Amino acid sequence: MEATENMKAQIAQWNDELKGKNPIGVIAYFLLHFGDRLVLSTSLGLEDQVLTEMVLRQKRDVEVFTLDTGRLFPETYDLIARTNKYFGIRMKTYFPEPIAVEKMVAEKGINLFYDSVENRKMCCGIRKVAQLPRAFEEKDAWICGLRKDQSVSRFFNKLVEWDANNGLVKINPLINWTEKDVWDYIKMHNIPYNLLHDSGFPSIGCEPCTRAIEPGENIRSGRWWWENEVHKECGLHKR
Ligand code: ADX
Ligand code: SF4
Repeated sequence: MEATENMKAQIAQWNDELKGKNPIGVIAYFLLHFGDRLVLSTSLGLEDQVLTEMVLRQKRDVEVFTLDTGRLFPETYDLIARTNKYFGIRMKTYFPEPIAVEKMVAEKGINLFYDSVENRKMCCGIRKVAQLPRAFEEKDAWICGLRKDQSVSRFFNKLVEWDANNGLVKINPLINWTEKDVWDYIKMHNIPYNLLHDSGFPSIGCEPCTRAIEPGENIRSGRWWWENEVHKECGLHKR
C-alpha cells in the first residue's frame, strides 16, 4: 500500500525534526501522537529489550507483541517469561495458522528452509509475516529495533518510514545506535536479556536458522548463515 503524498511529506518532516532527539524523546513524541494506535513488536532481541523498557517506563499499557514461530530457542521462551515478570506485563503472542504450517510441512518437510531461499521465505512468511495483519489491527504505527549498522541491507533504513507491506508507519528509535550503545543501556538498567548473547549469539531468531558467530564477524552473520547476505531479511522488513 503506497503512502499518500501527505503521509510522505509528514514522514520527511518527522525525520528532519526528530533527527537530533534521543530514542526516549522520539518514543515520547510518538506515544503522544499515536496514543493507543502505536504498538511495539519484539523478537526479544537486545534492541527490543531496550525499547520495551523505554516504552513501558513512559506508558504502562502500550501493546507489546511477539510472533512465536514455534521454532524459537528454549532460552527465548525463558526470556519471554522473564521479561513479562520483570515489566509486569503479559506480552501478546501470535502463533502461526496451524493448517498453513501443517500443509507446508507435509509438502516441503519440517526443515524446508535449508533447501532454498524460496522455501525459507515461505516458512518465514507463514510462521511470522502472515500474522502481522492481526497484530496491526486498529494500529497506525509500529516501533521496531532496526539499527543501521546491523547489516548492509539496513544501512538505508530511516528513523521513520512508511511500511508499504502493512500500510502503517514504522518507527526505528535505535536506528543510529551502535551495538555498544545497546549493551550499555541493557547493563545500566539491568534489563533481562537472552542468555545466548553470552555464548556468541549477538542476533537471535529461530533455533534452526541461527548459529553462534566468531569474534569480528558481522553480527547478523549467524542468521540464515547458509544464504547470501542480500537475501537475509525475513519479510518483516521487506523493502
Ligand atoms: S529479522 O527480520 O532478521 O528477524 P531482527 O531479528 O533483526 O529481524 O529484528 C528486527 C525487528 O523486527 C525487531 O526489533 C522487531 O521489532 C521485529 N521482529 C523480528 N522478529 C520478530 C518476532 N518474532 N516477533 C515480533 N517482532 C519481531
Ligand atoms: Fe522458519 Fe527459519 Fe524463518 Fe523461523 S527463521 S520462520 S524457522 S525459516
